[in-house]
Amino acid sequence: TMVDHLRKYESAFTLTPQRMRMITEAFKDTLEHGLKEYGQIVPMIPTYVFGWPTGEEKGDFLAVDLGGTNLRVCLVTLQGEGKFEITQTKYRLTEEQKHGDGEKLFDFCAECLQTFINTNTPEDGTGLIKPGQELALGFTFSYPCAQERIDHGQLIRWTKGFGAHNTEGRDVAAMFRTSLEKLHLPVKLTALINDTTGTLIASHYVNPRTKIAVIFGTGCNAAYMENVSEIGKIDNLGIEKSAQMAINCEWGAFDSFQHEHLPRTKYDQIVDETSNKPGEQAFEKLISGRYLGEILRLVICELTDEGVLFLGQNTYKIEKAYSFDTAFLSLMESDPTEELLMIIGIFSHFFALETTLAERQFFRALARLVGRRAARLSACGIAAIVGKMGYLEEGCAVGADGSLYNKYPKFADRVHEGLQDIFGDKGRNIVTHHAEDGSGVGSAIIAAMTKIRKEKGI
Ligand code: BG6
Ligand code: GLC
Repeated sequence: TMVDHLRKYESAFTLTPQRMRMITEAFKDTLEHGLKEYGQIVPMIPTYVFGWPTGEEKGDFLAVDLGGTNLRVCLVTLQGEGKFEITQTKYRLTEEQKHGDGEKLFDFCAECLQTFINTNTPEDGTGLIKPGQELALGFTFSYPCAQERIDHGQLIRWTKGFGAHNTEGRDVAAMFRTSLEKLHLPVKLTALINDTTGTLIASHYVNPRTKIAVIFGTGCNAAYMENVSEIGKIDNLGIEKSAQMAINCEWGAFDSFQHEHLPRTKYDQIVDETSNKPGEQAFEKLISGRYLGEILRLVICELTDEGVLFLGQNTYKIEKAYSFDTAFLSLMESDPTEELLMIIGIFSHFFALETTLAERQFFRALARLVGRRAARLSACGIAAIVGKMGYLEEGCAVGADGSLYNKYPKFADRVHEGLQDIFGDKGRNIVTHHAEDGSGVGSAIIAAMTKIRKEKGI
């Protein structure tokens, strides 16, 4: 029966507290290692964002955010004291743009920015942007970039299924600047930012208890504020030892290639092997929105092949890779009806499949297993940073954003539960919060912090 099948998956996808503590320990070692040496799998990237915002940050800034799904252009007005206003436009990226020529991708970003500026700069001066006004631009580019300065960053590797050519290994800030110059836009790209770093700074701006930021979206990653004295690999750069700098962990890469620490099932292995980057982003592939639906789909396909599900029905639609959206998992988990009508709808509408109640209950339980595992693994990552920084006793806030965090029911609760499994009752001291628009507001604040440092001659 479906119940017997479920038992098998339960043991494959369930993480005990003890296992979570082991993962957390290994994670912590990895983070520490990445701070000491360049070229580590989890690169622990120094971001050249020094310390927290003070509230002095004010003015108008542009932000371009190239994430996993959308391209966003924002105009942010910082009013000080944690207050801001934001105007934005979203553009959907095509597969062609994600996998075509890198220069064209940046040209497209520049064109979208041009449209946005033109729309908001009417001749009569009544618009958000005044004719002749030059604006500082923060570029949120949510892929691992090695930085030596705030306004530069060499793409280490594409993640989240991106693969534009002629871009890995190059300075993406310089590439974007070239595209901006072609259009003679009145902007100055002053900061290149990861979405986690933006979220960290934006969250702290509104809630000073924030010490860590995590993105749970198409990808999964975290940033936190580190003491410069702890970042051994930048020892010889002459940076003030008492300073603090944000670190973009790129923790999605944890356990890549070696696969020593994470409990990977055979479905995870298939996801990995059939991805455009086998071996890479091992942690992210168990957690982020890009992959959860695919993991569940592979389980369903296995049972279909074994003749357990959908006998006599045509299953070609569900056999297509990545056809099972992660949003379906959240829908299945939140179906309030006894008959599980939402699940009937998903299977009939998107896959032309009929389901029995027992099957639907099974699918929902499966979604729960996959979703819960993702949240509990994320808790291990957060716990590693908390442990490393010694934040457990005093507690701290964790700014969180991304489609998975915002839309998946119970995701946050499960992360919190996981933290308690790792730390016991004290785990309650660590609380995640939805962070309001890290890439827009965060990049504006960072652009403003950069300007203030320049003016002070630092
Ligand atoms: C947004 C954040 O909500 O989520 C961005 O403001 C982040 O900073 C994005 O990059 C990630 O989510 P997704 O689901 O688009 O990958
Ligand atoms: C991927 C990217 C990382 C980003 C995360 C969330 O892990 O490599 O830079 O922060 O996705 O968007």
